Amino acid sequence: MAVFSNSKAFANLVMLSLSLVLACFTIPIAGNFIRDAEITWGDGRGKIVEGGRMLTLSLDQNSGSGFQSKNEYLFGRFDMQLKLVPGNSAGTVTTFFLSSQGAGHDEIDFEFLGNASGQPYTVHTNVYSHGKGNKEQQFHLWFDPTASFHTYSIVWNHRRIIFLADNSPIRVFNNHEAIGIPFPSSQPMRVHCSLWNAEDWATQGGRVKTDWTKAPFTAYYRNFNANGCVSKTSGGSCANSREWQTQELDAKGRNRLRWVQQNHMVYNYCADVQRFPQGFSEECKRSRF
Ligand SMILES: *[C@@H]1O[C@H](CO)[C@@H](O)[C@H](O)[C@H]1NC(C)=O
Repeated sequence: MAVFSNSKAFANLVMLSLSLVLACFTIPIAGNFIRDAEITWGDGRGKIVEGGRMLTLSLDQNSGSGFQSKNEYLFGRFDMQLKLVPGNSAGTVTTFFLSSQGAGHDEIDFEFLGNASGQPYTVHTNVYSHGKGNKEQQFHLWFDPTASFHTYSIVWNHRRIIFLADNSPIRVFNNHEAIGIPFPSSQPMRVHCSLWNAEDWATQGGRVKTDWTKAPFTAYYRNFNANGCVSKTSGGSCANSREWQTQELDAKGRNRLRWVQQNHMVYNYCADVQRFPQGFSEECKRSRF
């Protein structure tokens, strides 16, 4: 015990180890991109930096870039902080979504459609079940998503999908499988993120083209947290925190959602008569919240 000849030092060391052990149990382990993600495309345009605390994606005229989570999940809560391409981001699309693989895939999307300088980004959301989407809702944000990091979250449980921006619900898609509306409930999904070019359609219907003199464009990702059930193919275990499994909106959440939908929604598939002249999908007639 030569090292611990000083009993006070030993006591301090014990206290220190004890608090480290406790910290591991009480503080959710912050996401680390080295541990949790892999860059999937972009030929060096995607970079994990700051020891795994941040990931940057870039886009130039030759290619965009993207990454995915190492694990596949079957239900969970997924949080990501993003700082979007500033200035003239017209034609760029920055994404954070869940997707299964193969035919008849499920997908839950956050897509950020860039815009000309000073014009608002459009946050595009959609849900695909068994390969079928057509459930778009779009929003303009009440903050500048390029000035600093903001948190975007997808809560996906058996009953519903909740989209959140800085913890404000912006959309709820309820499970109406009982009345024949498909819902993503059996295919494990990975988290995917990308920055790519979609000047053909993204900005004001493709009328505003990308200004390539401003390239490369960069989007920043931070604090990725997946609190969910890892599918059997990637280990099969559930996170300790189970709050998301029954997460729903309380009165405050419903008020906030109503505020967002009344003031910040710019497109709703449940109100697009021209597109669905023969009537809206059945879930549109149910309570929106
Ligand atoms: C870009 O800005 C225009 C004008 O404010 C707006 O109508 C449009 O929804 C914005 N977003 C996109 C993706 O075009």
